[in-house]
Amino acid sequence: MADDTSRAGARYTTPQILEYVSRVHAPHDAALVRAFAVPEGVPAIQVGPSEGRLLHLLLRLVDAKKVVEVGTLVGYSAIHMARALAPGGRLWSIEYEPRHAEIARANVAAAGLADRVTILVGAGRDVLPTLDGEGPFDAVFIDADKQNYDHYGRWAVQHLRRGGLVIGDNSYLFGELLDDSERGRAMRAFHELVAGACDSVCIPTPDGLVVGIKR
Ligand code: SAH
Ligand code: DHB
Ligand code: MG
Repeated sequence: MADDTSRAGARYTTPQILEYVSRVHAPHDAALVRAFAVPEGVPAIQVGPSEGRLLHLLLRLVDAKKVVEVGTLVGYSAIHMARALAPGGRLWSIEYEPRHAEIARANVAAAGLADRVTILVGAGRDVLPTLDGEGPFDAVFIDADKQNYDHYGRWAVQHLRRGGLVIGDNSYLFGELLDDSERGRAMRAFHELVAGACDSVCIPTPDGLVVGIKR
C-alpha cells in the first residue's frame, strides 16, 4: 500500500531491526551508556539512540557553536549535541528538576564535556530570557513540558541565526497532537510557527521530530 504510513517505513521496523541499526550507526560508548540509564525515580524518557545521533549530525551540518536545549533530563541528548560542537562551542541546557540537573552534570563531566556544557536549573520560560544576550544561536532543541512548546518555539525563532535549526521532540504529542486540549493547541501552534518561520519537516520518528531551518 503506497499511503503515507508505508512510505514512512513504519510497517517495516521491528525491535530487532531497530537494535541492529542503532548498533551499526549509533553505538553507545561508556558516557552514552551512563546517560541512557536512569536511577530509581527518574523517568527513562531520553530520545532514542538514532534520534540522539541525528541531533549530533544535524549540529555538525550547520557547524553549530552555540546551542540551547530545553529539557536536559540526565544529559543523554546533551552529550550527543555537545560532541558535535565546533571548537569553542557551547551548549546551554535548561532543566526544571534539580535532581535531574545534578545527575546530568555528573554524566556530562564523566563524558569530559563539562567545559562546553552549562546546565541551568529552572523553568524554561524563566531561564530562556537570561540567555537572550548570548545569541544568536545555531540550534535550539526543545524536549521539555509540552504545553510550553509554542512559547519555546517562538523564543527559538527570535534568537536563531538565519540558517539555524529549531528541533522539537514529541511533536506527535504521544498521539494527542490533534486533541482539543491545552497542550494539543500549544503543540499545533509550535508546528505552525516553525513552518511559518522556517523551511521545516516533521520527521516520523516514533513520536515525531520537528526540524526547521530558520529563513
Ligand atoms: N532531552 C533529554 C530528555 C528530556 S525529558 C534527552 O533526550 O536526554 C524532559 C525533561 O524536561 C525532564 O527532565 C523534565 O524534568 C524537564 N522539564 C519539565 N518541565 C520543564 C520546564 N518547564 N522547564 C525545563 N525543563 C522542564
Ligand atoms: C515524556 C517526555 C518526553 O520528552 C519524551 O520523549 C517521552 C515522554 C513524558 O513526559 O512522559
Ligand atoms: Mg522527548
